[in-house]
Amino acid sequence: MGGGSRAGHRLARAALLCAAFAAAGSATPATDNATHTIVATVLNGKYAPLFELWHPRFAAATDARVELVVACLDDDAVAAVRRLDTRARTLEATGGAHDVAAARLAKVHTVLRLVREEAAGSKRLVIYSDVDAFWLQSPISRLRRIEAPLAFSRDGVATAAGFDGKRGFALCAGFFVARPTEAAASFLDAWRLKGRGGRSSDQVAANELYDEGVGIIADEVVDRCPRGAVPAVWHPYSPAQISGKVFFWGRVLAKIASGDGDAFAGVRCSWGGRHKGRNRRAGGVVTARR
Ligand SMILES: *[C@@H]1O[C@H](CO)[C@@H](O)[C@H](O)[C@H]1NC(C)=O
Repeated sequence: MGGGSRAGHRLARAALLCAAFAAAGSATPATDNATHTIVATVLNGKYAPLFELWHPRFAAATDARVELVVACLDDDAVAAVRRLDTRARTLEATGGAHDVAAARLAKVHTVLRLVREEAAGSKRLVIYSDVDAFWLQSPISRLRRIEAPLAFSRDGVATAAGFDGKRGFALCAGFFVARPTEAAASFLDAWRLKGRGGRSSDQVAANELYDEGVGIIADEVVDRCPRGAVPAVWHPYSPAQISGKVFFWGRVLAKIASGDGDAFAGVRCSWGGRHKGRNRRAGGVVTARR
């Protein structure tokens, strides 16, 4: 996402497209915050094949009471959303600036915007899910029971960005939930400011802001490395290329769908590389084998 003027024009065009689609789809639905929820994600054209893998599971796990909001980083993302989901709302995702850091923080900007909208409006819960966090069942009823204004899923591998040895995990910025409250908005605003300028990843910035007010989403609800029972949301570790992700994860998802009890056998459970083997045990305890 370079900052040249061509990229600038493309982004401006994407913004116009997004705005046009948003206006076209804005027949206000009846919203009761006890039953209605927002799920937000961020997409660029490169990740469209992953969105194609993600969306059918998401759609099967949810119904019309869930509004999907996709923050689009380019035209191809808008096109992919329109292809797969005519009801989804699209937003412009650049945060108003054409720089890399702003794009990386698109999820934070988007959720902050939605939390503020909902705080002033329908007061729906806002869930953020990366398109590589696969919804096998709906996590929503479990997420509703969390009282903290903001709660994150966890990454228990010692090599995760923002990992804290004392805590035994990193907050994972790929899946989190926000209540439509001032407390959530102020954390998101602080997160946005801390992540600005590209000095550290969005996840590192979130972990630097961690305090006792931040909730944790249980591993039964969102898990990176399931050891048997299928979590509501599986957020696997990543083979590098998009095509590899789609291929390997698609195979595992097909096994889960067919009821294969061993679906997760052999899936990677770390970021690999020289840190291979430093894996989490149940409960977030970390083993460091050397
Ligand atoms: C729903 O709205 C009420 C107030 O209108 C609020 O007390 C409650 O916390 C909201 N639910 C969620 C999930 O934020």
